[in-house]
Amino acid sequence: MPTSGVASPGEIAASLTELWSPRVIGEVDDNFIKVAKVQGTLGWHAHAHEDELFFILKGRLRIEMEDGTVEIGEGQSFVVPKGVRHNPSADEECHLMLIEKKSTLHTGDVVTERTRSIEDQLRPVESMAAGRGRVAAAVGATRTGDDAIAIRRVDLSALASEYIGETEKNIDRLFEDAAQSGTVLLFDEADALFGKRSEVRDAHDRYANIEVSYLLQKIEAHPGLVMFASNRRQDIDAAFLRRLRF
Ligand code: NI
Repeated sequence: MPTSGVASPGEIAASLTELWSPRVIGEVDDNFIKVAKVQGTLGWHAHAHEDELFFILKGRLRIEMEDGTVEIGEGQSFVVPKGVRHNPSADEECHLMLIEKKSTLHTGDVVTERTRSIEDQLRPVESMAAGRGRVAAAVGATRTGDDAIAIRRVDLSALASEYIGETEKNIDRLFEDAAQSGTVLLFDEADALFGKRSEVRDAHDRYANIEVSYLLQKIEAHPGLVMFASNRRQDIDAAFLRRLRF
């Protein structure tokens, strides 16, 4: 029986150490599946264009809305419709799973000290390292003893800004930040970026805005470590593979 792809949201949520800090554990089409550990109150906000599904893995969550409050317990779910102002809170520790569009901002239309960026939510979760196939294998390989190395998973869709001309700026900023902080850059789905054109046309189209040649220059000039994860090595362009040193 195939077991790759089997996720344990309950265990992952339980392993989290930060409150109100959702972490992405998977995706379904254009949606992220996230887990979070919460206690206390997040704060009022709304998502103008996205519904937000809460599924309770453990404990109870109260969701205040302007026309009433719902309380959901273990095994129960609730969808906050787009545009509805809401304020989640939990008296005791609560573990939850969220399903929401990738464009959904953590605290919607407001920014507070609790607000977490999408990048922050995409940080690899340590307890998932055993079960995430290639990506996790690469993450595991960079750890020596107890010294954790910071790894930043590059969000290709975020990099490809919809504003023409912004993409290169985003790429510059990414590499500058990594060089300064010593963070390892992890490109997931490397085949989508550096694949042989004929075989991955769909994937190329997804990142049509990314200046691949510009990205390659930056990678070659970068003093730090850059990792690529792909389970389709055969689809990766030979010219790109030649640039890899190990
Ligand atoms: Ni919300």
